[in-house]
Amino acid sequence: MILEQIIQAVRECGEMILQADRTQAAAEIKDGQSNNLVTKYDRAVQEALRDKLLEIAPQAHFVGEEEDVHESIARGDAFVVDPIDGTTNFVKDYKCSAISVAMTHDGTQEIGVVYNPYLDEMFYAQRGKGAFCNGKPIHVSEKPLQQGLTLFGSASYYKELVDDSFRLLRLCFDRSMDIRRSGSAAIDLCTIAAGRAELYFELRLQPWDYAAGSLIVREAGGSVTRVEGGEIDLTKACSVLATGTGADPSFLRV
Ligand code: IPD
Ligand code: CA
Ligand code: CA
Ligand code: CA
Repeated sequence: MILEQIIQAVRECGEMILQADRTQAAAEIKDGQSNNLVTKYDRAVQEALRDKLLEIAPQAHFVGEEEDVHESIARGDAFVVDPIDGTTNFVKDYKCSAISVAMTHDGTQEIGVVYNPYLDEMFYAQRGKGAFCNGKPIHVSEKPLQQGLTLFGSASYYKELVDDSFRLLRLCFDRSMDIRRSGSAAIDLCTIAAGRAELYFELRLQPWDYAAGSLIVREAGGSVTRVEGGEIDLTKACSVLATGTGADPSFLRV
């Protein structure tokens, strides 16, 4: 079955991350933005995933973060891939990064797989069939934010978003038990899906950051919208707000 084949491919590539010699990672700056990093391992994992995934579904488009040109996912089958989500963590050996693979059909996620090789946690979901971690069903938290954790992200190279991100973070801080910043949006989304935290937001993410994780949250019973409300859009960058069933995020929209 295709889900198992994708999981197997992702697991094998997780081993590449664990075996990587970081001293040879040769981090480069991307798009002229300092702090926006890419390494030869981001590219190597992406190439390995491309080969394996296109063997599973040769008809699919392949949309990987580290490609120069991104194909449209609006029609037909597509793989939306982040080879290393959490590149800065990888460069720093912070041991909190993931591989994120979504399979979409006509722009809608059908399958989402997020693998954290450091914890050997494989999160996955198929549309309409629930969400799982290492074979066990997962569910979002029912707790209100006052008894919960807020997760957030804010890439330091999106300078125009910093003030707003931290204004909203302050609102969350005042309403939560505590806040956390993992450095991997895909892991943040799976943390919400697994009921380990109650609210996650980030003001700008790219489709490969959230395509898989957002399906996993929804299949775990949670909600995923834009921070300002409305549907997330897999065809372009957008803000992402994910919550369990007990957290009321309406204070973020005033
Ligand atoms: C980044 C991570 C980070 C988030 C950034 C993303 P990358 O992805 O998910 O947590 O705050 O917005 O770009 O570049 O490490 O794949
Ligand atoms: Ca990146
Ligand atoms: Ca990413
Ligand atoms: Ca990445």
